[in-house]
Amino acid sequence: MVRNDSRSLIIAPSILAADRGYFFDEAKRAAESGADWLHVDIMDGHFVPNISFGVDFVPTFRKAVGGLILDVHLMIEQPDRYARSFIEAGADILTVHLEASHEVEKTITIIHDMGCKVGLAINPLTELQHALPLLHRIDLLLCMTVNPGFGGQPFIIEVLEKVRLARAYCDQHNLEVDIQVDGGVNMITAGPSVTAGANVLVAGTALFKEKDMAAAVMEMRSKATEVSSAG
Ligand code: DX5
Ligand code: ZN
Repeated sequence: MVRNDSRSLIIAPSILAADRGYFFDEAKRAAESGADWLHVDIMDGHFVPNISFGVDFVPTFRKAVGGLILDVHLMIEQPDRYARSFIEAGADILTVHLEASHEVEKTITIIHDMGCKVGLAINPLTELQHALPLLHRIDLLLCMTVNPGFGGQPFIIEVLEKVRLARAYCDQHNLEVDIQVDGGVNMITAGPSVTAGANVLVAGTALFKEKDMAAAVMEMRSKATEVSSAG
């Protein structure tokens, strides 16, 4: 059975899981795979215990993916200080963490004023109630399904309860917010995520480690839209 939901399903491969010697080609491979967005994880070694890309990588990804949406996930402290440069470098969506050190409402304004979409991310242990008052000001809510910092971790299934509540809240208040899950999303966890109410699936390992990414994207799309009789 296929979900009868007009909200479109978005698949966003995470470049963090790409072959590190070939970032340009890997980003291009994702863009040609039928994926909808490219997810770019920025880590500063402070907000998370890992360092990934700096802003200088973003134009390279932009060039590689052409018109595909660049979904930039800032796992950094003081995202308000860096938001402008990430947008100038080519981000279409900029997601900041609620837990980072900044005045979230001001950061949202900075990003929107530059014509960029805003995402707000919450860690697995952060309660949804802290994000609810901001939902009317954002375009995307990212419910982290792993503790941020590393690819290849197992999906934390308990987060799906938060996804369910967030989707119900948005429906109730008529809010057009994309709900994204990120971390441990694969062919098994994609379906339950969408059933819970997520419509944007970020997947690193499950897509980039596949030789045929187009087939993997297609498979994930079909797994995500199949509703099990239990779902
Ligand atoms: C984790 C990152 C994720 C990561 C997902 O901190 O935000 O985007 O790349 O990787 P997988 O899909 O391998 O769990
Ligand atoms: Zn991410």
